[in-house]
Amino acid sequence: MSAQDEAKKAAGRRVVEEFVSDGMKLGLGSGTTSHLFVRELGKHVANGLKLTCTTTSRSTNDVAREVGIALTDPNEIGELDLTIDGPDEIDREFNMIKGGGACLLWEKIIAHASKRMITICDESKIVERLGAFPLPVEVVQFAWKQTERMVAEVLADHRIKNAIIERRMRDGQPVVTDSGNFILDCRCGVIPSPAKLEAELNRIPGVVENGLFTRESQGMVVGRFDGTTYVSM
Ligand code: 5RP
Repeated sequence: MSAQDEAKKAAGRRVVEEFVSDGMKLGLGSGTTSHLFVRELGKHVANGLKLTCTTTSRSTNDVAREVGIALTDPNEIGELDLTIDGPDEIDREFNMIKGGGACLLWEKIIAHASKRMITICDESKIVERLGAFPLPVEVVQFAWKQTERMVAEVLADHRIKNAIIERRMRDGQPVVTDSGNFILDCRCGVIPSPAKLEAELNRIPGVVENGLFTRESQGMVVGRFDGTTYVSM
């Protein structure tokens, strides 16, 4: 396992030990860091920890089932105590870009359905300013090029000059999210006002959600490449 994966795993282990307790209703995030956390959680569940869990993607459903974590329909679980999820970028105020794995919509819904969200990551995800990682914007398939044009206008209004917007492709085919939408990846450089941009992108009719998470996370548990971890709240 690489030092980065060890760091992700250490962060997940610390979250389980410090923030998860018997009887909690948990939201399980998506991506490699969250999947390592779910595998760690599975060991505790096998040892008797009682949880009610729901997930933020079909891929996390698969990992949870594989490690013996029973899942509850998000419509049946009610308010969650805690969601644990990973970022593509996170700043010191816990603003994030998410959606590198195309799961941003379900991730944001579950984060908002939770009393608390804690982000887990390795130290490479921490940035001074958001924007080096391409910002994913989930759009409906209908007239997506019109939506793309409107996204470009909003980015220009935000002094994000020369943004490059590309529909996400894999193996020559457009990526389709778990909700049946496309993803536009927007290379922004630096995002001057993440909270304002998050709100304004979501006002475009064809935009379903975007990968800026500026209100969700209350803290982060970070794994360093030397194997140590720290908590920032
Ligand atoms: C998926 C996500 C992931 O949480 C994010 O991409 C982080 O993934 P990883 O832990 O693999 O770096 O937002 O939509």
